[in-house]
Amino acid sequence: MATLADRPVTHVDLGDNALYTEDRWREPFARLREEAPLSWRADSPFGAYWSVVTHGLVQEVELDWETFSSSWDRGNITIADDVNDSAFPNFIAQDPPIHTAQRKVIAPAFSPSHMNEREVQVRERCAMLLDGLPMGETFDWVEQVSIPMTIGMLLILFDMPYDEWRDIKRWSDWASGVSADNLNEEYFAEFMTQMGQMLARFDVELEDRRAKPPADDLLSRMVHSEAMGNMEPMERIANIALLIVGGNDTTRNSMSGLVHALDLYPEQLDVLHGNLSLVPNAAQEIIRWQSPVTHMRRTATRDTVLAGQEIREGEKVVMWYISANRDESVFADAERFDVTRANARRHLAFGHGIHRCVGARLAEIQIGTLIEEVVARGWRIMRQGEPVRLASPFLHGFTEMPVRIEARG
Ligand code: HEM
Repeated sequence: MATLADRPVTHVDLGDNALYTEDRWREPFARLREEAPLSWRADSPFGAYWSVVTHGLVQEVELDWETFSSSWDRGNITIADDVNDSAFPNFIAQDPPIHTAQRKVIAPAFSPSHMNEREVQVRERCAMLLDGLPMGETFDWVEQVSIPMTIGMLLILFDMPYDEWRDIKRWSDWASGVSADNLNEEYFAEFMTQMGQMLARFDVELEDRRAKPPADDLLSRMVHSEAMGNMEPMERIANIALLIVGGNDTTRNSMSGLVHALDLYPEQLDVLHGNLSLVPNAAQEIIRWQSPVTHMRRTATRDTVLAGQEIREGEKVVMWYISANRDESVFADAERFDVTRANARRHLAFGHGIHRCVGARLAEIQIGTLIEEVVARGWRIMRQGEPVRLASPFLHGFTEMPVRIEARG
């Protein structure tokens, strides 16, 4: 019988913020892909956890949702357990049948016909933002492009006024902010205060939609549905936070990553200039390369065996997308940003299986539109100094990206 001591060990705590703020994550993941695709870390600020680091094994865990549960009542969906064991019951943190019923309420908002409509709105907003940028001066791409572009889209999906974007950004930052540095009561108290403010604001909108006939926006879909029409306050908070974080930080960090990638691989912009039909593939490639969601976590519902290792009921299993998307057995020369990569779409940055990202197509449209509009303007976006990276083991991105725009020579 295998014991704890027999488990292959994760030598580096992959939940450590420093790996990401200092951009040192590549080597430990590469070593684990080679030596231990499934490994165990007994102690970390987040407690004990398994790490899944290869493309094949991440898919295996994702597909077996009965063994590897997302349900909030078994644990969280990130490496951090909820402080105070509080429930955060949104539909990404549910298993079927609740997950299936609630996803069905939201998913039609992302249907192809709705996406065609959104494409027009995305292009208008993108052109307006880019035309207002200070040419030849240094500015922060995160603040002036990535954030307003993605929050603007979110407010369209909620059918809420754009001038509320600062509040949405603040709530999104709080909702996604748990890391090893803030696993304490004070953080949790402020977190609940912020979430309470968010709920108070959204309850006004939800009641407004309830009083009106059903419409296409996400809030109207919720209140006029059976599965989400009468949610308890904590369930409302959790589902609104899911949509805000899901639609915001992820796409934002892909847009910031795009500038970083084009700075490291400037010839890729020339390739796009020569062939605009590569833009959809380039959007997928930047999502793979950046992997804005570093991991998702599941909890074992029973004793099981995976990759020859015995996993016990209740243990945490963390799927590191950032590593699966660098798996050389699937992506040749995986570190390279290559807009012509034939299998860029095989990335797992959107997850896989029943929880695969509901907003994937919208994200692709937003990022693709941004690429097209940059190419159309004949710009080269020059990075000015080091970007500041997000201190999080969950979201992989940037808080600042100083740049200057110049005409392509
Ligand atoms: C789920 C990534 C954009 C809304 C997810 C998951 C990931 C992800 C990894 C979880 C998959 C799993 O647990 O297996 C991303 C990335 C994006 C992006 C990388 C951008 C590049 C969006 C957008 C929206 C959105 C634009 C909506 C406005 C959601 C929702 C879920 C989800 C609601 C929960 C789906 C479910 O549990 O069934 N996303 N996402 N995401 N995403 Fe996204």
